[in-house]
Amino acid sequence: MIVTIDGPAGAGKSGAARLLAQRLGFDFLDTGAMYRAVTLAGLRTQISLTDQAALAKLLDAIHLDMPPGQVLLNREDVTGLIRSPEVTAASGAVASSPVVRHRLVRWQREIAADRNFVCEGRDQGTIVFADARCKFFLFADPQERARRRHRELTARGESIMLEDILQAQKERDARDAARDIAPMVPAKDALLVDSTPWTLEQVVDHMEQEARKRM
Ligand code: DC
Repeated sequence: MIVTIDGPAGAGKSGAARLLAQRLGFDFLDTGAMYRAVTLAGLRTQISLTDQAALAKLLDAIHLDMPPGQVLLNREDVTGLIRSPEVTAASGAVASSPVVRHRLVRWQREIAADRNFVCEGRDQGTIVFADARCKFFLFADPQERARRRHRELTARGESIMLEDILQAQKERDARDAARDIAPMVPAKDALLVDSTPWTLEQVVDHMEQEARKRM
């Protein structure tokens, strides 16, 4: 069984997906981490991230492994490196690439084939696992998402203004929702979950209940 969780950055998808997978005894796949790993590989080889032929060649040369809680790029642990602001900023171009999306969609389906998975991203319920039995679209008020992100970055010792986060988030949301390929929209049969007033536990309680109804 596949459970999908899509939605914008900062709505709490990763935490919710990880905890939900734990409670259901499922595996968990963070597909954003895959786009980030390809982005890191592209930045390192200094190709243009909009050059489709160069991206195709890059994809042929990389191997991604996604063991629980880790991302391995050609066996190197890049779990921390893919969260840098440079990778975050450049990931939009890579995520808009038809060549990259085509390949990652295939890898995602291969990873989850015949297994129980909670898959998190932007297109999991609409494209990658359109037949999934249980789909969520998790969102939250933009101010609240920016505040959460600000707390996270401040705790990591980074100093950044809340206003700057809000602005960058607005641009990313607009770009993700408006892109031609795999835009970030809820699947028609997705359950909409607004995490603004809820704790992570409350979000996951609700999701677990809905998922168990469909198991
Ligand atoms: O969720 P995230 O911030 O780690 O995602 C990184 C980038 O990949 C971001 O630009 C959105 C994009 N993405 C996507 O287009 N499709 C997915 N299934 C997951 C992420």
